[in-house]
Amino acid sequence: MKILGINGSPRGPKSQTPKLVESVLSGAKASGSEVELIDVCRLKINYCNACGVCYAEAKCVHEDDFEDLYNKILDGDGLVLASPVYFRSITAQLKTLIDRMADAIHCQLLTGKYGCAVATAGSPNYAEVTDYLSRIIIGFGASVVGSVGATPSIPGDIEAKKKVASMLGQTLVDAIKTKRAYPEQDEIHNETRKRFRSLVEMNEDIWTHEYEHWKKMGWL
Ligand SMILES: Cc1cc2nc3c(=O)[nH]c(=O)nc-3n(C[C@H](O)[C@H](O)[C@H](O)COP(=O)(O)O)c2cc1C
Repeated sequence: MKILGINGSPRGPKSQTPKLVESVLSGAKASGSEVELIDVCRLKINYCNACGVCYAEAKCVHEDDFEDLYNKILDGDGLVLASPVYFRSITAQLKTLIDRMADAIHCQLLTGKYGCAVATAGSPNYAEVTDYLSRIIIGFGASVVGSVGATPSIPGDIEAKKKVASMLGQTLVDAIKTKRAYPEQDEIHNETRKRFRSLVEMNEDIWTHEYEHWKKMGWL
């Protein structure tokens, strides 16, 4: 079992967000999973230019660090997405990665996998980002087992939430092992599938790779 954590904070050694991701991953490791943490801000990932080549050919026109990271995401059983709140949203670096994954949402490439969301904020409003990241993970077809957020300026909050994060890592491993069902998320998965099925069918002639993928999965 492999779980990948992606930290979207650019702040380096003083950064608080990685403390929570590391705790999720250490909880997962203690429960028997292989884990890896990637700092997305250290990678070179160009902006998506909406050329649509990934829809047609399952490859990207950019030559940068995206492909290796994308393969790790697709290869893993679990995904932890983490970001500080920047203007009520995620950091630009993490968003740039997510934008490059349009083929993954069209093809629901994280179906059957599990994930969780992590955020820190200057205010108590970290749920703006944990809710957003959870929706993104579900959008790719995976199930979200929970989230953790902290407000580092509140004394003791990070230390307390590191314990919650470690338990979240254990929950993630357990969900993967037992293929835990989340019926309310499956309703969203069904709606998402319906939407992308009709898009992929409509674009059969140009989105050739995606059409083939949907056929191969038996979803058409
Ligand atoms: C550019 C920028 C925008 C921010 N926007 C918000 C915000 O909208 N809401 C909030 O609560 N905190 C905001 N913050 C505070 C950070 O979310 C908070 O300090 C966070 O814990 C930083 O994480 P880090 O230690 O991993 O860098 C912002 C910080 C920066 C640098």
